[in-house]
Amino acid sequence: MLKGKKIVLGVSGGIAAYKAIALTSKLAQAGADVRVIMTENATEFVTPLTFQAISRNPVYTDTFDEKDPNVIAHIDLADWADFFIVAPATANLIGKIANGIATDMLTTTLLATQVPIYIAPAMNVHMYQHPAVIENMKKLESWGYRFIEPGDGYLACGYIGRGRLEEPEKMVELIDMETNRTIKWKNKKVLITAGPTREALDPVRYFTNYSSGKMGYALAQSAMEYGAEVYLISGPTNLAIPQNLHFYRITNAQEMYEQVMQLFHQVDIVIKTAAVADYRPVKIMDQKIKKKTGPFSVDMERTVDILGSLGQNKNRQFLVGFAAETENIKQYGKKKLDSKNLDAIVLNDVSRNDIGFDADHNEVIFMTKSGSEHAIPQASKKDIADQLIKLIDEEIGKG
Ligand code: PMT
Repeated sequence: MLKGKKIVLGVSGGIAAYKAIALTSKLAQAGADVRVIMTENATEFVTPLTFQAISRNPVYTDTFDEKDPNVIAHIDLADWADFFIVAPATANLIGKIANGIATDMLTTTLLATQVPIYIAPAMNVHMYQHPAVIENMKKLESWGYRFIEPGDGYLACGYIGRGRLEEPEKMVELIDMETNRTIKWKNKKVLITAGPTREALDPVRYFTNYSSGKMGYALAQSAMEYGAEVYLISGPTNLAIPQNLHFYRITNAQEMYEQVMQLFHQVDIVIKTAAVADYRPVKIMDQKIKKKTGPFSVDMERTVDILGSLGQNKNRQFLVGFAAETENIKQYGKKKLDSKNLDAIVLNDVSRNDIGFDADHNEVIFMTKSGSEHAIPQASKKDIADQLIKLIDEEIGKG
């Protein structure tokens, strides 16, 4: 899918700059037309001539070295590209982009472009965890920049940890997948919630449920593959944070509610897969509750019904709920569909071990407000997610 794609590769000054050579080669082999921009610091690690030989294109290092008098180079490159990749992206470069600083050919061109930009950070593990770097990355992410997360391992500085530039093959695979997306939902923004919530009782105890987040993360992946811009709000899970979407980690139902409400008005579709606690302790104790003999009880209160609030507040959004049931599945599911003012609901039987909570498979019924019902037989959660996204798309299409 990269064949014929026009790619600007920005290389900044880190030891991982050598990997950008392999990246250029892989992109060129895939049929892409690659133009490389190097920062001055990058030229300390590798030479422009290497990139020129591999890309078969001139390499840009200086804003004022105008190769063609008919155009302004940085504007011309910004307009020419289908997308940008910055690999490696140093902490310094990320900081500059996040603050609109344009002091060289790379940052100037990045500021002038309107096409998708992939950033592949590479730096020392402590730099990667620095609040300034985290803030800058968050800011860029909220502007739609896509991050190719660094891997864990041995770093050139001698530390072992996160900060290694992703391997060139992986980067090409990822970018290829992105460009291969079905573009049906190109202009759609989809909000998905996943995982459990955790309601604290004291500093060592909490109430939760068995949700692993697998179903919600699979839906996020499928929605991305459909071309949507995805906002994933997740409770505590052990799953890797997916790339190329907006990710928000929350702990309890109230935090999920606040995050959902903050995003709700800018999205077109909401899929509420999360298993939200219905009750929480009335009081969270500051100190660990000491055990005593005899029974123990906790006063609980209702959490906010997030889906119910969305149903009351929705205007243009297509609202999909989930129903985790153990009996009378259709009957209880239909009740939730109506009472929460949903457009559709996905019913699953959570009394079974082979599907539902924490399993790799699921089996669901997709029920709509318009009265249709579609049973999806047991399949992997990714397959189920693919089919659900397709069904939601068809339902939206019916108007
Ligand atoms: O995460 P996995 O291990 O992959 O498991 C997937 C799953 C079983 C969690 C998933 O398929 C599922 O069924 N999700 C819904 C779980 C649930 O909370 O169901 P419910 O019937 O209790 O709630 C109905 C709907 O209201 C849900 O969309 C839920 O997100 C929402 N809700 C519930 C309570 C609350 N306070 N606010 C809500 O928004």
